[in-house]
Amino acid sequence: MSHDFSTRAIHVGQTPDAATGAVVPPIYQTSTFLQDGVGRLRGGYEYARGTNPTRTSLETLLADLEGGSHAFSFASGLAGEDTLLRAILRPGDRIVMGNDVYGGTHRLANQVFVPWGIELETTELSDLDGVRASLLPGARVLWIETPSNPLMKISDIAALAEIGHAAGAIVVVDNTFASPYLQNPLALGADVVVHSTTKYLGGHSDVLGGAVVTNDQDIAEKVGFLQFAVGAVSGPMDAWLTVRGIKTLAVRVERHSANAQAIAERLVGHPSIDRVYYPGLPDHPGHDIAARQMRGFGGMLSLAMAGGADAARRLVESTKVFLLAESLGGVESLIGYPSEMTHASVRGTALEVPDNIVRLSVGIESADDLVADLLQALQR
Ligand SMILES: Cc1ncc(COP(=O)(O)O)c(C=O)c1O
Repeated sequence: MSHDFSTRAIHVGQTPDAATGAVVPPIYQTSTFLQDGVGRLRGGYEYARGTNPTRTSLETLLADLEGGSHAFSFASGLAGEDTLLRAILRPGDRIVMGNDVYGGTHRLANQVFVPWGIELETTELSDLDGVRASLLPGARVLWIETPSNPLMKISDIAALAEIGHAAGAIVVVDNTFASPYLQNPLALGADVVVHSTTKYLGGHSDVLGGAVVTNDQDIAEKVGFLQFAVGAVSGPMDAWLTVRGIKTLAVRVERHSANAQAIAERLVGHPSIDRVYYPGLPDHPGHDIAARQMRGFGGMLSLAMAGGADAARRLVESTKVFLLAESLGGVESLIGYPSEMTHASVRGTALEVPDNIVRLSVGIESADDLVADLLQALQR
């Protein structure tokens, strides 16, 4: 019997402990496993860089929620991205990447893989003909982040997957902003989904992690080998915390989305704000695509401040409920200044974020309190 997302998020990979009946499976805080004779393993486990039952439970859950055959869990989102790119690229290959992505993802491609002999081209993913042209010289990877960080651009995953495959590229989607509750890129034709599980999946700003999920056997074998051979794995405690977070993903994301929608609608037309970037607003250029490929619009939004960089800095330093901090996707609301925080590494590149942009990760506090906090901060 197949169950709904909310049920699967709580039960998949979570069989109660056979020995004690503990409803919550224990954390297997162990690096190694007893052998009854050389190579005679009791439960298939040998050494925790290879596999650990707590990580297996998270990987089983992630594969299920993204509709993948294989999932791999890593110490951070970037560790997962790095392992994936090492698995599928060889020197001389090209990556075509959206022109609005998390600064660290661009830094990884531009400052780690380009010196390794990879070509990187960034492009506007809403211009499908432009993407087709960029892919033409035989790109190996098409990298999509949707919604994108921080400008909340929406890319048409199904259309881009078709274009990417026609050009022979592997289509990767960073699904961090949406989470698997709102969007499943593999079902839309993508080959690989990556996550910073640090964000909505973990959900409580208390654990770092990353995931790579795929339906492609060949990619899975390569990523699985490198996960073991390089070892950027999540530890048992981190995997367990992430599983615990995922159990409430559905209810959290519903509330994140409702709060973000309320804030976006309230701030549209505010005299201090030039533009509100939120795909749930009907005049957002990606609204129709988002409505088609997502089950909600998520908890992230950005603001372009009419008063420029000074106004943006003043706002991020004046909120009281929204905390000024990097990261996103936790229960608490965070506010950030991308051009000097999450995206400082893309300054001077084509991805440079305008200095009047403020990014909000809307938490699950009271929407009224959050709106009041922003309005008081906007008065300063
Ligand atoms: C969209 C996106 N992808 C990937 C990452 C990298 O994840 P981590 O910080 O867990 O390495 C981030 C981090 O902010 C992100 O926002």
